[in-house]
Amino acid sequence: MYSKKVMDHFTNPRNVGVIEDADGVGEVGNPVCGDMMKITIRVNNNTIADIKFQTLGCGAAIATSSILTEMAMGKRLDEAMKITRDAVAQGLDGLPPNKMHCSNLAADGLHKAIEDYYARQEKRGKGNAKK
Ligand code: FES
Repeated sequence: MYSKKVMDHFTNPRNVGVIEDADGVGEVGNPVCGDMMKITIRVNNNTIADIKFQTLGCGAAIATSSILTEMAMGKRLDEAMKITRDAVAQGLDGLPPNKMHCSNLAADGLHKAIEDYYARQEKRGKGNAKK
């Protein structure tokens, strides 16, 4: 039922944890099942220099979070923004149809973390402008 890649990322998830003083944080919940995910990113030169995830959820959500961190690591922010829910599922060689909703968390969490980074930058810019 699950691909080898799903099982690999579920049993040996990559980049688990939280980045202290992260440059961007994305927290999302899945309305279908109530599972939760937190993505933290470190940004350097508009590029994702580090990314970690914490997921309170099912095996498919853990596997999709794990593959997402691998897909996003080292990417420019605008490229990372283009990582879709489907791309995450495809990165795992697919998910069973009844588990496709689990892949939404990872992509949504990443996009939120990037938006949070942009919002912080904007605030900083405004703060500097006042000085
Ligand atoms: Fe909730 Fe998979 S069942 S994310």
